[in-house]
Amino acid sequence: MTADFQTWTSHCQANIETFLESRLPAIDCVPVRLHQAMRYSVLGGGKRVRPLLSFAAGELAQADVERVTVAAAAVELIHAYSLVHDDLPCMDDDVLRRGKPTCHIEFDEATALLTGDSLQTLAFELLAEKCLSDEPRIQLEMIVQLAQAAGSRGMAGGQAYDLDSVGKTLSLPELEFMHIHKTGALIRAAVMLGARCSGDLSAEQLGQLDHFAKCIGLAFQVVDDLLDTEATTATLGKTAGKDAENNKPTYVSILGISAARELAQKLQHDADQALQGFGDAATRLRQVTDFIVKRKF
Ligand code: IPE
Ligand code: IPE
Ligand code: MG
Ligand code: MG
Ligand code: MG
Repeated sequence: MTADFQTWTSHCQANIETFLESRLPAIDCVPVRLHQAMRYSVLGGGKRVRPLLSFAAGELAQADVERVTVAAAAVELIHAYSLVHDDLPCMDDDVLRRGKPTCHIEFDEATALLTGDSLQTLAFELLAEKCLSDEPRIQLEMIVQLAQAAGSRGMAGGQAYDLDSVGKTLSLPELEFMHIHKTGALIRAAVMLGARCSGDLSAEQLGQLDHFAKCIGLAFQVVDDLLDTEATTATLGKTAGKDAENNKPTYVSILGISAARELAQKLQHDADQALQGFGDAATRLRQVTDFIVKRKF
């Protein structure tokens, strides 16, 4: 590990952009409107935090970078699909995403729905088509892991819980349940898939990484809730204040700003503790964690 964090981040972001660019169907490929919408929703934006986590976990495990790139891209495609659907009028009804009109505003609702569907299946196509582990059994487990993280017992389930919670005051365990599903599950998959591209980690080490990933998955959404209140639309590239407008229970509405901030810091501490056994090999993961907790957008 030689490059500073900013240089490393830019390098990973460029790497994932090039790969996604090459794997998304071209805009002149029929049906043109759907492929335009897919590229519009994935390329040229976003912090790419999930890929950064896959790359950092892959580095820790000394995994092959080309394999990790495929795993990172699959997770990012699921994430991009989740954003397209999250913004639909039947969900959060948002008009701005990554500094641009949301997919259904730029195109139309049916196209946005199909864009999400197609990004999701492309993710699994990527994950299944090339060798990502020396052991086929492990690659199958990785596919299952992403499917579970994205589905009704993961992200989609968390989104259902989110929609069902509008206007309600959730208890802290209920709020945690919602957040670890709607956001945490995919973040956890990003870390674990990156690491599992290598066969070098023991079951105990994978368990430590998983504990780390659970902590930062929750921290990520706690910070997202804070930013919704504290940041501006211009900085976020999405509509600020939307949670209060939509009457969503969040860590800010339930705990208040300063307790929510303290919780994010405590989760960072817990995440760091989980990495202790890895020593310097986990420096990148610690840096990405620091970015997740201290980010301003
Ligand atoms: C936003 O995720 C949605 C949540 C799960 C909170 P990000 O903050 O990672 O969004 P992008 O990818 O950078 O746009
Ligand atoms: C979204 O959470 C989580 C997803 C699965 C997309 P939010 O609804 O808080 O995400 P933003 O704030 O719109 O990005
Ligand atoms: Mg939402
Ligand atoms: Mg939203
Ligand atoms: Mg939010």
